[in-house]
Amino acid sequence: MEDKYFIEGGTRLNGSVCISGSKNASLPLLAASLLTEDKCVLKGIPKLLDTCNMMKMLSGLGAQISNQGGQVTIQTREVQESGQLYQYARKMRASFLLLGPLLVRTGEVCLPLPGGCAIGNRPVDLHLKGLTALGAEFAVEKGHIKASAKHLIGNEVSLDYRSVGATENIMMAAAAAEGCTTILNAAAEPEIVDLGNFLNKMGAKVTGAGTSCIRIEGAPDLCGVIHTVIPDRIEAGTYLIAAAAAGGQVCVQRVIPDHLKLVIEKLRQAGVPVEEGPGELVVYPTEELRPLQITTEPYPGFPTDMQPQFAALLTTAAGESTIKETVFENRFLYTEHLRRMGSHITVNGTTAKIRGVERLFPTQVKATDLRAGAALVIAALKTPGKTEIGGVYHLDRGYENLEEKLSSLGARIRRVSDRAVNL
Ligand code: EPZ
Repeated sequence: MEDKYFIEGGTRLNGSVCISGSKNASLPLLAASLLTEDKCVLKGIPKLLDTCNMMKMLSGLGAQISNQGGQVTIQTREVQESGQLYQYARKMRASFLLLGPLLVRTGEVCLPLPGGCAIGNRPVDLHLKGLTALGAEFAVEKGHIKASAKHLIGNEVSLDYRSVGATENIMMAAAAAEGCTTILNAAAEPEIVDLGNFLNKMGAKVTGAGTSCIRIEGAPDLCGVIHTVIPDRIEAGTYLIAAAAAGGQVCVQRVIPDHLKLVIEKLRQAGVPVEEGPGELVVYPTEELRPLQITTEPYPGFPTDMQPQFAALLTTAAGESTIKETVFENRFLYTEHLRRMGSHITVNGTTAKIRGVERLFPTQVKATDLRAGAALVIAALKTPGKTEIGGVYHLDRGYENLEEKLSSLGARIRRVSDRAVNL
């Protein structure tokens, strides 16, 4: 059954909203807890479909997990073979982050290849290249990866692309490998830094996380740690844009402004006043939205996970904007639904051109992936009338308490499950 959102747009947002822990930091941290038999305590894990699925996979592998309002205590004394893995692994690409830790713990892994999804075919060649350099062997059989590693030994790995997931998998395996590993052309996202800090607390020696060259000195017995997850910079950026789109004054709290530099700069370029405070960002109403030129790139470049939200904002800017998507090959599916709302967006390959219109119109639309769903919510918030958004489960993957947080800012949003609609 598919839930829907009904959003009565056209009202301003006002007030403050507190950002949850980062989904994209939580997922590798949960996987990394497998690297030790000790207990780990992860604070600030957001309640999302993706984090719940990761924890289900881990308990299927033998982890003892308790979750008190986002404080997750997790201990895997012994790894068990898990058939459960497959049913969840297909649903979530991030399940592939179990590869490195499981190689360390068991030396033998069989994981389903993560499927492609709405934003591209998402290969894993860089994960395999990196882990092979550390001594792992792979065979691909019927959509599964069979991996084995008798002994992981540190090495130098250069990535053809600054892949976040590949960097994380290699860091986790290297943390327990013998000797030193250097990752060249590594991803530098804040979530990578958070993982590096976690691995250091476990007893590895990680330096350079957050730069393109990361050095990891492995340690034989990694220990359990207590760690608080960084705030979710993409959730924070989404609320900044929702406020800019709907108008009003909104304070987004529990953020690290440094993680949102380019997002803040682009909002200011578009004419949206953004004020930085201690751990918070405040958005003020704007007179007129100016068009933007955006190109997505690996961090610290403009984040691909924020381009759909900006596109929704720019549908009513005074002029023509362009968004060039360089990270994924197919991340403009959402534009079809923004066009249904009356926007003028043309997509040519990896570039979208957005000609601003006076206003959008309420209608029925459907989320095609997580950030596409966020774009549709933003478009609906600024459009007078009732917009219906299907595919809400995509949003449940990455936005904790979305309805409650938006309602607390004055949005008129209602979640209806198909069951209720049919009755
Ligand atoms: C992470 O995905 C994030 N997910 C994504 O966020 C984010 O969009 C992406 O990084 C880029 O920032 C999590 O952290 C759970 P990549 P990941 O490996 O690791 C190609 C969201 O909305 N590639 O950096 O899968 C790949 O095809 C999600 O929260 C290879 O070619 O991203 C893609 O084009 C969406 N070979 C590009 O690199 C590989 O072995 C970026 O992928 C790996 C990746």
